[in-house]
Amino acid sequence: MSYGKPESGAVQASGLGQLLIMLREDLMGELQAINQYQAHIDNIEEAEIKELLEHIRDDEKEHVAELTHLISRVDSIQREKFLNDHTAAPADRVNSGEDESQVLTVGNLFGKK
Ligand SMILES: [Fe+2]
Repeated sequence: MSYGKPESGAVQASGLGQLLIMLREDLMGELQAINQYQAHIDNIEEAEIKELLEHIRDDEKEHVAELTHLISRVDSIQREKFLNDHTAAPADRVNSGEDESQVLTVGNLFGKK
């Protein structure tokens, strides 16, 4: 799937718009890579290979974070959206100043920190 090339008659995105399109496609690729590595990890018995794939999967997670930060630097609306945790009630938001252990996160939803 590619969003980078406009169809005939479509308005071409600006240079910055094209950059954001490419970064979002890169982000999708990194997220898909995490899922693929995880699926393979879940189906491999050999500890050494499993451990190496876990390391590679975690590298992909770092790439997701890097791309997310980069997109945030380029896209001011996205940056604003990242600043607020819209997944929690206002009183439970991370930036509310409350005890962090009481904040609802994806991790603690599944019993992980
Ligand atoms: Fe990557």
